[in-house]
Amino acid sequence: MPVPLIDPHGRTVRDLRISITDRCNFRCTYCMPHEGMQWLPRSDILSYEEIERVARVCVERYGFGSIRLTGGEPTVRAHLPVLVGRLAALGVDLSMTTNGATLAASAGDLRRAGLGRVNISLDSLRSDRFAKITGRDALDKVLAGIDAALAAGFAPVKINCVVVRGVNHDEVLDLAELGRNKGIEIRFIEWMPLDGDGQWSQSQVVPAGEILAEVGRRWPLVAVARGAAPAERFAYADGRGHVGIIGSVTEPFCGSCDRVRLTAEGQLRNCLFAVREADLRQVLRGGGSDDDLAMAIEAEVGRKWAGHNIGNVHFIRPARSMSQIGG
Ligand code: 5AD
Ligand code: SF4
Repeated sequence: MPVPLIDPHGRTVRDLRISITDRCNFRCTYCMPHEGMQWLPRSDILSYEEIERVARVCVERYGFGSIRLTGGEPTVRAHLPVLVGRLAALGVDLSMTTNGATLAASAGDLRRAGLGRVNISLDSLRSDRFAKITGRDALDKVLAGIDAALAAGFAPVKINCVVVRGVNHDEVLDLAELGRNKGIEIRFIEWMPLDGDGQWSQSQVVPAGEILAEVGRRWPLVAVARGAAPAERFAYADGRGHVGIIGSVTEPFCGSCDRVRLTAEGQLRNCLFAVREADLRQVLRGGGSDDDLAMAIEAEVGRKWAGHNIGNVHFIRPARSMSQIGG
């Protein structure tokens, strides 16, 4: 029987986010350096066997209930349905965060392999602006990817939108309307200080409360109970689905955090904003046993902070950008 993994603040850790590659076919300004990244050499990246082994320990020993695949961009990794099939066999809620650009071709295969849910990032509905934000003229591809995800039967399909003042904050209602029309939950996310160039500024963060007020003025909203999920959820009073707001900066949800993260090169992070990591790759490649892996995982969870300190003098910006951690 699995024994729950409880951190020093009494939170049960049961959600594993796995970055399966640091590579990405986009260059979103709020996520990686303008100059682009120096990709990790292939040999530094965990193999599917190694990823599966860490996941299996988390599920079998500690009863983890959900696994999310992230990147970089997870769909740039070859033979992704193979990994999806192996992780789905663990019997968890398996999901993926993707930029959606290649989903039109792969959504069906991923669904058949056992992927349960997808979150697609979409920050603008204007082609020129989309290209400026992501570094790729790919809005049409992403919109096609969203439709393909719906057609493949992912339930639910969600859209993530990072709102940045002076960049796309004037599109909140347009994006909300797209969600209402397509029956997709759109989640507006406050910009976090995890861009590659240190351009983040508090003044460009559009507070969750402001976004919510804007949407609510147009379409009245009713609050819905929230669990460990970072999104605060609301139902449209007219019955046209839901909208979510992720107030990572102004309304931290660290108190209900239930996750740990595995980077593409096998480093376990106990927080998005962690300044240290546990080297699971060394255990995996050094002939370590599952007990050794479990010990390293437990030790890192034992160091989990109560929460991040963005906006506080004690906040330390992590050395890695979002594209290296995985979101
Ligand atoms: N702040 C908030 N969200 C971010 N994402 C990427 N960089 C940031 C950031 N600095 C989002 C992406 C994607 C998810 C992986 O994280 O839009 O939806
Ligand atoms: Fe790539 Fe996602 Fe980062 Fe954009 S936000 S650069 S799609 S990893």
